[in-house]
Amino acid sequence: FDISTFQNDLVTWFSNHYRELPWRENKDPYRVWVSEIMLQQTRVDTVIPYYQAFMRQFPTLETLAYAEEDQVLKAWEGLGYYSRARNLQSAVREVVESYGGEVPSTRKEISKLKGVGPYTAGAILSIAYDQPEPAVDGNVMRVLSRVLYIEEDIAKVKTRTLFESLLYDLISKENPSFFNQGLMELGALVCTPTSPGCLLCPVRDHCRAFAAGVQEQLPIKAKK
Ligand code: ADE
Repeated sequence: FDISTFQNDLVTWFSNHYRELPWRENKDPYRVWVSEIMLQQTRVDTVIPYYQAFMRQFPTLETLAYAEEDQVLKAWEGLGYYSRARNLQSAVREVVESYGGEVPSTRKEISKLKGVGPYTAGAILSIAYDQPEPAVDGNVMRVLSRVLYIEEDIAKVKTRTLFESLLYDLISKENPSFFNQGLMELGALVCTPTSPGCLLCPVRDHCRAFAAGVQEQLPIKAKK
């Protein structure tokens, strides 16, 4: 397995094929943060109009911090899981109070914020701050289970931490943002749960599951 060819194939594919989504217009950490929170339990197509309206209403971290909670919850109406909105506002208030309005740029500090788990921390650090930090969600675990032929149960917390440690080695140090977004985008567009599009896959030549013909049997997810 040649890591640098894998990184290059993934990053080049993402550069040429990424979707122009509103949160990809710039790398403002606040904008990246809001998008990752909205995308946690909600599909991309549903998120787009909510994200655009939210950014018009609360264009900066300060506007969200100083907004009335009612207004924030109203803007979230239809997205569901309102604790995401409450946690987000309480976290941006914390950023104003304790960090002078700058989203912290270390995993240690950013992870203290309400609602910012290991995935969100890694997504913000890599996409907004170009840091080689893993961002492991279900899509990423599916892609890597297949590429690396990993048969661990992805429902276990231990498996997520396994992927995180593998990714510290695997992630592109030149372009961690495109590398992580490439994994997410590959999971969304090509390496889908059923009938993955292996014939179009930019990393097919690196994929151990494809070589063995078992891509549809992975990832392993034990029933609860
Ligand atoms: N799902 C989670 N994060 C995403 C992102 N940044 N772009 C598209 N889909 C995503």
